[in-house]
Formats: sequence, structure tokens, C-alpha cells
Amino acid sequence: MNKNEKVDALLHKRRDVMLGGGEKAIQKQKESGKLTARERIDLLLDKGSFNEYDLFVQHDARDFGMAEKVLNGDGVIIGTGTIDGKPVCVFAQDFTVVGGSLGYMHAKKITKIQDVAMKMRVPCIGINDSGGARIQEGVSSLAGYGEIFYRNTQASGVIPQISVILGPCAGGAVYSPALTDYVFVVDKVSKMFITGPEVIKTVLGEEISQEDLGGARVHSEITGNAHFFAHNEEECFLQIRKLLSFIPHNNKSGAGKLQSEKPEVNIDINSVVPIDPTIPYDVRQVIKAVTDKSDFIEVMEKFAQNIVVGFGRIDGKTVGFIANQPFYLAGVLDVNSSDKAARFIRYCDAFNIPIVTLVDLPGYLPGVDQEHAGVIRHGAKVLYAYSEATVPKITVILRKAYGGGYIAMSSRHLNADFVYAWPTAEIAVMGPQGAANIIFRKEIMEAENPEDMRKQKVEEYKERFANPYVAAAKGYVDSVIEPAETRGMLIHALLLCENKEEVKSDRKHGIPPF
Ligand code: HXC
Repeated sequence: MNKNEKVDALLHKRRDVMLGGGEKAIQKQKESGKLTARERIDLLLDKGSFNEYDLFVQHDARDFGMAEKVLNGDGVIIGTGTIDGKPVCVFAQDFTVVGGSLGYMHAKKITKIQDVAMKMRVPCIGINDSGGARIQEGVSSLAGYGEIFYRNTQASGVIPQISVILGPCAGGAVYSPALTDYVFVVDKVSKMFITGPEVIKTVLGEEISQEDLGGARVHSEITGNAHFFAHNEEECFLQIRKLLSFIPHNNKSGAGKLQSEKPEVNIDINSVVPIDPTIPYDVRQVIKAVTDKSDFIEVMEKFAQNIVVGFGRIDGKTVGFIANQPFYLAGVLDVNSSDKAARFIRYCDAFNIPIVTLVDLPGYLPGVDQEHAGVIRHGAKVLYAYSEATVPKITVILRKAYGGGYIAMSSRHLNADFVYAWPTAEIAVMGPQGAANIIFRKEIMEAENPEDMRKQKVEEYKERFANPYVAAAKGYVDSVIEPAETRGMLIHALLLCENKEEVKSDRKHGIPPF
């Protein structure tokens, strides 16, 4: 063979391997409404930026007829590329090759790209479409999963790890995503479960569809396993690109500073919060009124909607927002909203993203269901996460800040750097009704007209405590500000915090109430 023939042979070999499971399997993939692994990588990355590694890697399994089988790419594509010009590492499982199942060499490819991502301190994005551990390879595939999970954990808090679920991900295929920072799902395409419907039928005798067991909506709305929901794969890849434009690409780099831009929405921030504390409003209005271009990317939008978390920019700098949502369950902290907030706080802290907390909540949710679901254990996560975080912490109390809710939502007492309150703030141990019923019980019971007396005592309590000035008089609130002054105060606070330093204790790590 001369040199040109050798080049031709290589091109042919490459083209064949790049076909994955072959044309028939690709057609099946398309018929099930999915893109191929290669199309996915092309859509995600900057055009033409993908550099593939390990195209010719082969499995070395010998049992169950595997010795004779050639698996193109061993069912996974790995490599590097760029998003908005910044480098990233990526892998995409190829369902057309034995269902994207994970054998040992398949896992080796994934761990190789994880190692590159860690060494180069760049984000690692995994596109998952896999039937889980390759059954024919037995314990070798389990070993492969273990090595991936180990690296997920080592990379946690160092580089962003993003998982995209684009198929029926079963067994081990769900645990690597669960260890990463963000899980993206697509309606009707994504499925995640530990055991598939067939196993469930065999073991439990129950029939259930993949969609009902672990579809995109289930994980976005009920389980909280997914952080972003898209209607199709194209939208999903745009969401990933947008998220990466907000977050730092490692824990040392910072998110960078863009030009400061004014909020775009036409919202009169002074009139967002209704005077009557029982009337709800959408706290996202407040976020949009203070962020550059009113651009806000919400994380876990459909899960535990009583708290809103996500990223926006103020004066060109990325901040993480955590805001009680009065529109939903009055913005209470419960099991799920506590989990959601605590994890987000820890993410911001790990990646040096300042936290802005907007407070309006009646406290932790009471009731047998919540107590038995562990609201003490889960609620404690919020206290722990805020107390542990050393990034700039700026708090604005918009309206209600009652009891444990007041303390938990980044209060001065948990070491917030700045605490502002709007004139509508009510900072008290509990709401006026409950408080008056308890502390004036005797007077109310003994009164000629108990109902009138109750009303009078509620008013008395409101007069005394349903305002920000008692807390301000003790220095727990730094300033009572007009809503329209909020963005200016946040800009100033963030500027002051730019060189913030906190002495860290020399312990190995704390024991959060996981
Ligand atoms: C080997 C597999 C496989 C697997 C699928 N395939 N899963 N091969 N090991 N785990 C193969 C199928 O045999 C088939 O090959 C091809 O992939 C496509 O699969 P289909 O079943 O035709 O596709 P579909 O109907 O879409 O169903 C997808 C599925 C189903 C829901 C994922 O294949 C399934 O239930 N697979 C098993 C899932 C599972 O229980 N995994 C757990 C493994 S244990 P052909 O040649 O016919 O095209 C595990 C433990 C790790 O992961 C724990 C770590 C903590």
C-alpha cells in the first residue's frame, strides 16, 4: 500500500466505525424520536470544533458470544470541543450499539475524558442514552461504573458536570447523572429508572410504562432528579449553552464580568409586593427588575416551586438567586424546597458565585406529612448550607420573615454580609393571628366579646412587630430601603464583597444533614 492508499483505508475505516450500530439501528433511533450521538455532539458544540478521541477502542469481552462481536466505538463517543469559544469535554453514549450499554472499555473511554476535564479544569458534559451495565460483561461493567462514580465525586465542586438524559437510561446509567451538578431532560425522550418496566413486571408483577416510571416530567416535577426540562433536543442543547454562559468553568476561574446592562422588563418594583400580606405575587418579577437585561436562568423550575433558584447578572457579574415564591404554598420551606435551596447554595459556594436571597415566607410548613417526611432533617440543610457558605451573601427581606424561616433565609445570624429590608417587611416569631391567639389567650377567653378582643390583639401585635424596624433597631437589618433602591444597593454590596475573605476552619469537612 502506498501512502495515499493508506490514507484512503483510514478514511474508510473511520467512516465505518462512525456509523455506530449501522444504518438500520440508526433508522430505529430516529423512529423513536431521537437524534444520533454524533448529531447531538454537533448540536451542542461550536460548529466544527469537535475533536474525537479513542474512535477505534474495542471491548475485550469474551463471554456470551461477545468474542466475535465488533462494537463500533464500544458504544460511546468521547472528545473535546468548544462552546462559545471556551473548551469543554464531552461524551455521548450511542444507543445504536448494544443499547449504549456500558462495558469496561466503554467506561474507560468515559473516565479518560473525565480525567482530561479535571486536569484541564474544563466542564464535562455527558450525553446519556444507555441500558445500563452491559449484562454480558458482568462485574467488569460494574467496575466501570464504580470508576466513573469515583471521578464524578472527585470532580464535584471543581468543574461543572452536566448530564443530559436522552433515552431510556437504566440501572447504573442513572447514578453518574445523579452525582453531577445539572441533569437535563427532554419531554418524551428522557427516561431514568433503576430497574426497567420488564424487571418490575417480573419481580413485582406490575405493569408500568417507561414514561410513567421515570419520564422527563416525572423527574422535573416529582422526584427532583432533573434540573432543566426541554421540549426537544435542540432546545435542550441551547439551554446547556446558556447555563454555561452564566457559570464559571471551574472553581478558580470566576464567571467573568460582562458589560453592565439595565433591567429590560418594564416593572414598577415599588408596586410588586401587595400591601395585604395574604395576597401572593410572583417573586420572579423582583428578580427580573434587578438583573441585567432581566435575564434569569431558573434551575429546577417545576420542582418545589415554593422556592425559586437560578442565575442572573448584576452589574455584569453572575449571582445566584434564592427566593421564596409567595405564588406557591405561600413560599414556605418544606422538605423539597429545603433540599433544592441547600444544594443550590452549596453549588454557588463551591464555584464562588455570590448569593442574593429574597425573603418572603411564613416559615417551615407544619403538619404530620412534613414532620414524618423529615422536615427537621431536610430543613436543617438550609441552615447548614447558608452557615457554611463563605461567598458574598446579600439578603433582602421583601415581606414576611417569620420564625425559623427568618433565621434560615440567610439572616444576619447565619453570617450574611448585608441584610436589607423593604418597608413592607414583617419580621416576627410567627404571623400576627397565631401569635395573638397564644400570648393573649387568657384576655381573649375572658373578654365580653372574644372575637373583638382577638381582632384588637392581632392589631396590637401587628403594630408592634409586623414591620422591619424592631430588627433594624437591633442591627439585624442594615438598612430599610425602598424597593426601587434595591438594584443600586445590590451593586454596591457586590462591589464591596469583591475581595471578601473568611478564615476557614482547619477541619477536613463538616457533617451536613444529608
Ligand atoms: C446488554 C443491552 C442492555 C444491557 C439493552 N441492551 N440494555 N445489552 N446489556 N444492559 C441491548 C438490547 O439487548 C438490544 O440489543 C439493544 O440494546 C436495544 O435494546 P431494546 O431493549 O431493544 O430497546 P428498548 O426497547 O428501547 O428498551 C431499552 C431498555 C431495555 C428499557 C433500556 O433494553 C432494558 O430494560 N434494558 C435493561 C435495563 C436494565 O435493567 N439495566 C440494568 C443493568 S444492571 P439488540 O441486539 O436486540 O438490538 C446495572 C447495575 C449497575 O446497570 C448498578 C450500578 C450502581
